[in-house]
Amino acid sequence: MKKQSFVTTKNGQEVERYTIQSPGGLLASILTYGATLQSLVLPSGRDVVLGHDTMADYERQDKYLGAVVGRVANRIGGGRFTLNGREYVLCQNNGPNHLHGGLAGFDKKVWQAKTEGEMLVLSCQSADGEEGYPGKMEVTVRYWFSEDDTLWMDYTAKSDADTLVNLTNHTYFNLEGHSSGSILGHTLWLDSDAFTENDEFSCPTGRILPVEGTAMDFRRPKPLGQDIDRKEEQIHRGNGYDHNFVLKNPSLTAPFAKAQAGGVTLTVYTTQPGVQLYTGNFLDGAVPGKGGACYEKRCGFCLETQGFPDAIHHANFPSPVLKAGETYHQRTGYCLTEE
Ligand code: GLA
Repeated sequence: MKKQSFVTTKNGQEVERYTIQSPGGLLASILTYGATLQSLVLPSGRDVVLGHDTMADYERQDKYLGAVVGRVANRIGGGRFTLNGREYVLCQNNGPNHLHGGLAGFDKKVWQAKTEGEMLVLSCQSADGEEGYPGKMEVTVRYWFSEDDTLWMDYTAKSDADTLVNLTNHTYFNLEGHSSGSILGHTLWLDSDAFTENDEFSCPTGRILPVEGTAMDFRRPKPLGQDIDRKEEQIHRGNGYDHNFVLKNPSLTAPFAKAQAGGVTLTVYTTQPGVQLYTGNFLDGAVPGKGGACYEKRCGFCLETQGFPDAIHHANFPSPVLKAGETYHQRTGYCLTEE
């Protein structure tokens, strides 16, 4: 494992960059800032994830490129929730809703790193009351490659009081290479029969709708661009795909998604009940990407494995409550193969 100093943040914290190698020669570089996957380079030299070259660019961007997102990924409706009879008020940083843990979520923390053989172990703490959430929380994310070149991300969290948690990684993939432009030609298969319906602010209404007959149907592989402009309210509300799909069979051995482009296949596994398919609808090229790349709208896509968004407000969704002293656990693996 290689360790380099990556530079310091605005407020003088040291950020490090670790590079881990898979048995087949893939290289993953991870920053201690946001526990961010900065690059994922295939044996051919192709880098398939979006990222930035400098710390200043990471601090300027607001797209969560490659970062671990928490304490609660995705939205909490109205930016407030009630737990154990008490109301907690969070910031509304996405229309009327709370998004991705707030203004200073886990993506903006400098995590502590240690190595265990070829595994990178990143930890952070979140204070009681931080961003409005109850309970002091300890979080650990482990990154490693398995024998078959799958990059695993394993997340655990513990809190000293009842709280909410939903962790994910916000990597944008472009299988043709991070600077190759539109991902609309990528084909995607998703093992999902249903998705959570969104309101006009992309927050769940609570209804779970079948994908059958809609643009959301990826049960047979199809290009991401095939139905993205269909005149359907849901796809219009998301400005493209920005929806939580209900996974039929969360598993660490049977994949729930396969994406393909330019001779590269991405296969994804997870323990989580849902995945946010996001087609980079709000990428705007504002902050330079790696090597000066310009990441415009739909130049990358995310498969953010997660609990359902706004689950605290919907009794029919799996609960996002983490009880004091209990351990939250999620694991997701991204396997990349080249032809
Ligand atoms: C998530 C959200 C999107 C957007 C991106 C970041 O995927 O669902 O609406 O906020 O993060 O730009």
